[in-house]
Amino acid sequence: MLARIGTIFMTFAAVAFCVETMPTLDPRIQDLRLRPPPPSPGNRFAISGLAASFGQRLFFDSRLSGNNSESCAICHVPAKGWGDREPVPSRFPKVKRNSQTIWNVAYFSAFFWDGRADSLWAQALVPLEGADEMDSHRLKIAMLIAQDSYLRTNYEAVFGPLPEFLRRRAERGADASETQYGSHDYWGSAFAAMSEDERDRINQIFAN
Ligand code: HEC
Repeated sequence: MLARIGTIFMTFAAVAFCVETMPTLDPRIQDLRLRPPPPSPGNRFAISGLAASFGQRLFFDSRLSGNNSESCAICHVPAKGWGDREPVPSRFPKVKRNSQTIWNVAYFSAFFWDGRADSLWAQALVPLEGADEMDSHRLKIAMLIAQDSYLRTNYEAVFGPLPEFLRRRAERGADASETQYGSHDYWGSAFAAMSEDERDRINQIFAN
């Protein structure tokens, strides 16, 4: 009972403290509050909450990289202002540029230091396959999604069913060991051996 009273007292005290110390927002800075993200006409899934949480999950998934140990968050570290607080990323000697913070990028109209990407979804494709960065391959990423039941369920909830040929390939376990250790070259030649239609479907999954 005493504990409960104590809790009630603490709650009142906390509320009273907040009321007392709650700052009134200076009217001059009211206008600085974040607006809703601007429309993104090239992205059909821009306002899908499901797509956003799936993307959040992928952002921290190091299996997307060629060597399974580098996620986006290795250079865009949440606790370091979504950058890495290094002049250039020391773990990636070939990267000659500073890891930009990705705070508020939803509001930008050009990306990278030279503005060479004009949409956020197109920007994200670059580090995934960049040999100096995550050094992965679009087929590897599609296979990972097909093989991991969590990723597959979430992908399909947002974008619809994965193509049949990819599901069969995943079920056969054709690339099981390569998914873990495979090199860019392995995935490159597996991709080249596919029909044009299959390659198109993989490109679509990668762009999604
Ligand atoms: C090796 C470290 C590294 C990894 C891994 C990495 N990035 Fe980056 N990121 C950078 C660097 C460096 C830049 C600036 C590159 C440039 O200007 O050419 C950048 C730029 C960006 C930008 C543009 C920001 C702006 O202000 O224009 C976004 C968005 C971004 N990265 C998101 C991602 C996402 C999403 C991933 C994972 C798919 C990722 N990054 C993986 C280092 C990294």
